[in-house]
Amino acid sequence: MALRGASRNILGVSPDPQSRAYGPRASRDGTPLHVPPLIARKRDGGELAPAELDALLDGYLAEAVPDYQMAAFLMAVCFRGFTDAELVRWTARLVDSGERWSWNGVPGPKVGKHSTGGVGDKVSLVLAPVVAAMGLRMPKVSGRGLAHTGGTLDKARAIPGLRVNLDRADVERLLREVGFAIGGQTARFTPLDGRLYALRDVTGTVESLPLIAASIIAKKVAEGLDALVLDVKVGSGAFLAGEEAAAELARVMIRLAARFGLRAEALLTSMEEPLGRAVGNALEVREAIETLRGRGPADLVEVVLALAERLALAAGAERDAEPARRRAAAALADGSALERFGRWVAGQGGDPAVVDDPSRLPAAPVVREVRATADGFVSRLDAREVGLLVVRLGGGRRTKADRIDPAVGVVLERKCGDRLARGDLLATVHAADSAAADAAAAELERIVGTSGDPPPAVPLVRLRIGAEAAAACDLRADDG
Ligand code: URA
Repeated sequence: MALRGASRNILGVSPDPQSRAYGPRASRDGTPLHVPPLIARKRDGGELAPAELDALLDGYLAEAVPDYQMAAFLMAVCFRGFTDAELVRWTARLVDSGERWSWNGVPGPKVGKHSTGGVGDKVSLVLAPVVAAMGLRMPKVSGRGLAHTGGTLDKARAIPGLRVNLDRADVERLLREVGFAIGGQTARFTPLDGRLYALRDVTGTVESLPLIAASIIAKKVAEGLDALVLDVKVGSGAFLAGEEAAAELARVMIRLAARFGLRAEALLTSMEEPLGRAVGNALEVREAIETLRGRGPADLVEVVLALAERLALAAGAERDAEPARRRAAAALADGSALERFGRWVAGQGGDPAVVDDPSRLPAAPVVREVRATADGFVSRLDAREVGLLVVRLGGGRRTKADRIDPAVGVVLERKCGDRLARGDLLATVHAADSAAADAAAAELERIVGTSGDPPPAVPLVRLRIGAEAAAACDLRADDG
């Protein structure tokens, strides 16, 4: 299994506190770090010492270790995994590469949410204003798009003028005035994760349990949270498709967070088909605004409410699930979350008029309709394939330097289980030119599977894994 060795004895081994004595970027005698033997050792299933990991990561941050060597090392990790000690050390290094925030003096519980990555996953754009309206505070650092999945950062950037390069003072001001902030990794906040994230995106090295766990937990630890709820995706569009692998990722992240003093829990949510109807940055912002107006697609609303409920409980803002969910639903229904969203856009320098007039968002010049060619039911809508299609339209990156087109994407008018009559509108493609629109429309016809009978319903929120369950499980049993 590709995740072999990913989670051996995660709490069993402490990082060696003496290891920095070796010095970060060179061996003891001052010779430059020799990276190929480290790559080869990981390739062959060996373990790196804490000082070696530090040297590799510090060297990469200082641009002494080039991308090609780090990419080879990351690929070796994809196959060989990390030991617990390596995972803890790697994560600590990501955290320590920048500031670790604390929010003494800022009122309200500071909560975090992070998704392991999905297609059409605009949950954070809705959830953050909902929980802010409930009195919680969310200092959120998100990532840009990763492989076939979209990133909250790219979606936020689709809002004209909105700035995501936030420093601590910006985040504190936003927490006080709005209740949440959404920024990205910067030169001062988990810069190492920012660099590695961009490299993994384009080198086929995202799908690694320990690399995902470290990347996510490092950001959440550095955010200075009181409580964290992880949205671990399961299904074709998730990085770890199967439920067992997703559950293991959840347990590893919860235990890793605990190592850094952060209490976390996880919901496993379905990513067999895209979440909501819109896939593509500006299109997803538009759908998020619709959802904040109380007109969101049922699956998106369900995931938002489930996470808001858990966050309110985890933060101690509510004692019971029912009232927590009712408060979250009220924030969507009464416009208070929408009002927070507008303040957030303005607070980060964006054009707040997009809230009332989403036509101010970037729009693609070509919009092509895709229609059903037969009667029946939508039986398959593979999230990964839809995500890859949007990358090909220009909504994601193929190289580190690619600029994404915020306007492109697809809107799925029918989802799995919906009845279809020949000629019904299946989807609209939003493209930069006619050739791209034609290619995407033809591909969508293939991606949308139909059948005579409705497919079995898939539960959206599949499982909750609490801190106790994660602590109780013996991860060594999975040692490959
Ligand atoms: N989200 C992250 O922040 N990092 C990953 O590696 C995957 C999803």
